[in-house]
Amino acid sequence: MEFKHISVLLNECIEALNIKPNGWYMDGTLGGGGHSNQIAQRLDKNGGLVMFDLDKEAISFAKERLKDNKCSMIYAHTNFKNFKEVLVQNNIAGLDGILLDLGVSSYQIDNAERGFSYMQDGELNMAMDADADLNAEKVVNTYSQEDLTQIFSTYGEEKFSKSIAKAICEARKVKPITRTKQLVDIIVNAVPAKFRFSAGHPAKRVFQAIRIEVNGELEKLRECIFSMVRDGLKQGGRLAIITFHSLEDRIVKDAFNLLASDCICDKNLPVCVCHHKEEVKLINKKPILPSEEECEQNSRAHSAKLRVLEKL
Ligand SMILES: C[S@@+](CC[C@H](N)C(=O)[O-])C[C@H]1O[C@@H](n2cnc3c(N)ncnc32)[C@H](O)[C@@H]1O
Repeated sequence: MEFKHISVLLNECIEALNIKPNGWYMDGTLGGGGHSNQIAQRLDKNGGLVMFDLDKEAISFAKERLKDNKCSMIYAHTNFKNFKEVLVQNNIAGLDGILLDLGVSSYQIDNAERGFSYMQDGELNMAMDADADLNAEKVVNTYSQEDLTQIFSTYGEEKFSKSIAKAICEARKVKPITRTKQLVDIIVNAVPAKFRFSAGHPAKRVFQAIRIEVNGELEKLRECIFSMVRDGLKQGGRLAIITFHSLEDRIVKDAFNLLASDCICDKNLPVCVCHHKEEVKLINKKPILPSEEECEQNSRAHSAKLRVLEKL
């Protein structure tokens, strides 16, 4: 299958990273290499780019796409949350910029057999990393009803979490749930008819929730942002993060605001006791959003938000 993915907020990200030709950059979410290729093209032979993806297919596609660039290029088939080990192994002392374009690529969604899409039938998988132990089939067939309810409600903000979780647990007693289509039918039937399509497809939020659980997408994201600023970036280095849903964006926004605050004491205290010092400046107070034109050309761009900070 051809690797198709249109990079979101491409020019905005490149501008945000303020690329120095001899600098070292990190792309934590390589995907089709669209952003990485633009970064690499702006680097000379003294500059370098370290790229991460959990998906081996993404890495092999991007390697081919980026092969003609002059800068040093390092590929890491691991979670970007392990960035410190990769920097140490490669003697990279600090980074001038880091980009995270969170979530899944269009290639992953469009490939029915990866199981990310509620629109096509495929194996119930959803793991970005094909070697991972956890996948959607395990979540759906082995998690307790209480855990499923919690996941659908926390990661999917799904109103009918309880009835959907109950319907899944009843259905799996009859036969294991192994296909996306099977799961979609169970979800649709568990939502009362009058609400079924009132807020988009009812499977959309549940699939998002399962995907987040399978890939641990929100786990330690906040800690990772702090660590990228403190242990990854050089002074003046930039961190740019694109999010696609409110749960992710809230984590990024709160972490950025905390890092940019001089005092985090309760407002009622007469004097500061926290001694918290700002570590970054926010490049934009409000997130950067895609233009109407970009949204028309790429439906995936609609929910994108880009936040950028600079280490002081
Ligand atoms: C939205 S796509 C990136 C697209 C890319 N920026 C481009 O322009 O082609 C996200 C990619 O990041 C990978 N990914 C998501 N979370 C990751 C994580 N925590 N660690 C490593 N890779 C991750 C996914 O497998 C996917 O290939």
